[in-house]
Amino acid sequence: MPDMYMSSHQLLQQQAPEQPLYLFHRSLLTQSISQFQQGFPGLLTYAVKANPNALIIETMLEQGVLAYDVASLAEIALVQGLAEKAGQSVSLHYHNPIKSEPAIAKAWHEYGVRSFALDDEFELEKICRQIPDPSGTELSVRFVAPVKHQVVLDLNTKFGADVKTAIKLLRQVAEAGFKASLTFHPGTQCTDEQAYVDFIACAAEIAEQAGVSLHRLNVGGGFPASYVKSFGPNLERYFDVISQAVKQYFVTPPALVCEPGRGLVNDCVSLLLKVIHRRENNSIFLNDGIYGGLLEMKMVDLGWPLLCWRNGQLIDGPKDRFTVFGPTCDAIDVLPSPLQLPKQLAAGDYIEMPLMGAYSSASATQFNGFLSATYVTVQESSYCALQQYYGLPKASGL
Ligand SMILES: Cc1ncc(COP(=O)(O)O)c(C=O)c1O
Repeated sequence: MPDMYMSSHQLLQQQAPEQPLYLFHRSLLTQSISQFQQGFPGLLTYAVKANPNALIIETMLEQGVLAYDVASLAEIALVQGLAEKAGQSVSLHYHNPIKSEPAIAKAWHEYGVRSFALDDEFELEKICRQIPDPSGTELSVRFVAPVKHQVVLDLNTKFGADVKTAIKLLRQVAEAGFKASLTFHPGTQCTDEQAYVDFIACAAEIAEQAGVSLHRLNVGGGFPASYVKSFGPNLERYFDVISQAVKQYFVTPPALVCEPGRGLVNDCVSLLLKVIHRRENNSIFLNDGIYGGLLEMKMVDLGWPLLCWRNGQLIDGPKDRFTVFGPTCDAIDVLPSPLQLPKQLAAGDYIEMPLMGAYSSASATQFNGFLSATYVTVQESSYCALQQYYGLPKASGL
């Protein structure tokens, strides 16, 4: 099967893929990268966890993204391998606040990682035991602001020192001789830009109370993509409020870093799924489900737009509610609520879901032997047509 097509229409006229297929729209990614590069008032790093596919990272490298937020040794090895192949040198920020001690040692000694995140004293002890020379290494204290915001998944229930702990930890980091930074994550799909202002105000307070001049302030990810049911203001609005807040709250504004995942890569991938079975009671079975690329659909109702194809042509006409099952033998492999799909939908038809670039193939398993990992490049995205159809706000990369 070729790995490049003009459009979904062309692909489906030539192929009838049996496995789920991720359609990579490269130009949407390059537009999204340049939006961050030109608009964000600091360093753009990419949160690899959102989508570690080589096509994505190779495009990032080509477009000059030379810093990456990584969560594991496997992600470190992946990015370094692709960077070497591309003849590029990259900085890696090992920003999983909890790491095993051997992983810290290997990251520093073997991979040359010089930026780590932490949110408690035990992690600092582990880092101090493994890093012989602190002076060239940045430690970013991950903190949580005592304010709640509109986010889809709140990562701060798992990570982040409270303000009091962060003050103490930041001071300890500086006293141990590391470059002392702060980092936060407002939560993924953060549709309220005020969250960044509150976290930045809190960062300024922590730095002041600790008596530490920050090396950098990392404002995390969280930048929202535009789904049917969940979207925020445009990215420029986020960049403006971040820029203003840093000037407002810091006497000497620190250098800024961001580490978007979803907001950077969500729009550039669509998922093409095959209907493998239809029962009489309006339920269908797809060749992918919650153990594959559709896990987020089980967890959060963001509203994914979709289109349906038969023999390479779009299917339209009256719609009905369908229960949608995945291909595995597990009963939980079903979407939480019915989807509106054409009444005539039948086995052998295809469903294309745009906005599947983040946390889709990235978290797919091979449960029951079903693979959801194959990417092809498709030049035109069906998303633009869909945007008008659903009256969607402009997606970040468009
Ligand atoms: C430390 C860190 N940075 C960045 C991200 C990316 O977040 P998002 O995809 O919401 O932009 C995550 C997501 O889990 C994260 O844990």
